[in-house]
Amino acid sequence: MKGTQIALQQVRALPAESGAARIILGGRFGEEPSALSWRRLDRFAESGGKAVDTAHSYAGGLSEKVIGEWMRANPGMLIVVDKIGHPDGRGAVDLSAAALRLELAESRLRLGDRAPDVVLLHRDSPEVPAEEVAGTLAGLVTDGEAREIGVSNWPAPRLGQLVAALAKLGRTAVVSYQRSLAVPVNPLWPGTLRASEPVLEVTARHRLPMLAWAAQARGFFAGITELPDVSKPDPFSSPANLARRSRCEALAHELGSRTETVALAWLLHHPDTWPIVGARSVPEVDASLEATQLSFDAATLRWLESGSR
Ligand SMILES: NC(=O)c1ccc[n+]([C@@H]2O[C@H](COP(=O)([O-])OP(=O)(O)OC[C@H]3O[C@@H](n4cnc5c(N)ncnc54)[C@H](OP(=O)(O)O)[C@@H]3O)[C@@H](O)[C@H]2O)c1
Repeated sequence: MKGTQIALQQVRALPAESGAARIILGGRFGEEPSALSWRRLDRFAESGGKAVDTAHSYAGGLSEKVIGEWMRANPGMLIVVDKIGHPDGRGAVDLSAAALRLELAESRLRLGDRAPDVVLLHRDSPEVPAEEVAGTLAGLVTDGEAREIGVSNWPAPRLGQLVAALAKLGRTAVVSYQRSLAVPVNPLWPGTLRASEPVLEVTARHRLPMLAWAAQARGFFAGITELPDVSKPDPFSSPANLARRSRCEALAHELGSRTETVALAWLLHHPDTWPIVGARSVPEVDASLEATQLSFDAATLRWLESGSR
């Protein structure tokens, strides 16, 4: 447990140079052979990775189960970022305390009777007052059901309200939004949100830890986007993103690195940002972690994003 507590402090406080602990491992836990999940987790942890991302809804619960099994065999190595409050088949999100606590109790069991370290609400339900949600989330910490709490995919105005309500209860939020060097033209899934300027304004003002999901732009920088919706065009394939990818490719060539590694390194240079990568294989885990070794000056970061220094 001591190791877990130390890791959580690191997630709250790591500077940009702090290596593998800045990357959070996601991926297809529960949808792939568990031996592959174990290999990815082994490699990630032995390389200094500290946190893994999952959700109550992922793989019908199998994602949490696989992670729980690995954690029982490797206690104190990783912290778990978990998400509850996913929309049902009709798109409705039940943010009542009773529903959320029920889900969290299931998550806890799947993880091996262990509370997740960070608990985020997967989506918003705007008719529930932010004060009520803040009370529910803060109660999870008080009752030892989570160490840190927060939200994913909440619109900026609602996030601002929640942050204010949590502050009155003496708590701060961890947040998770889609963020990558490539900016998608549409939300990747209904109800998901990217870290837009209004969101970043709130997170920067309050120095909220930002867990950036789809940090690899779903494989866009590696050359093949895993399409969120196969009936629609690649949401990352805009002229601006294609130009960003070309610049990453050119810099990677110069550095002896990989295009997707350079793109991830760009994200790592943002303070308070922890990229969540969906690395599917051990080589992809390695390529992601290599990004923590790349250091760019401000002019290079501007050039990667905009093409001008
Ligand atoms: N909070 C939320 O609402 C939310 C939503 C979505 C995801 N997430 C979390 O974020 C995690 C990452 O998102 P994601 O999987 O959608 O997108 P991602 O990390 O942007 O992209 C993952 C895909 O990129 C490709 N890739 C190529 N090189 C890679 C490398 N070096 N490292 C990682 N991936 C590489 C892989 O495809 P191939 O191997 O097939 O080429 C992989 O399937 C998820 O696993 C999940 O935990 C959260």
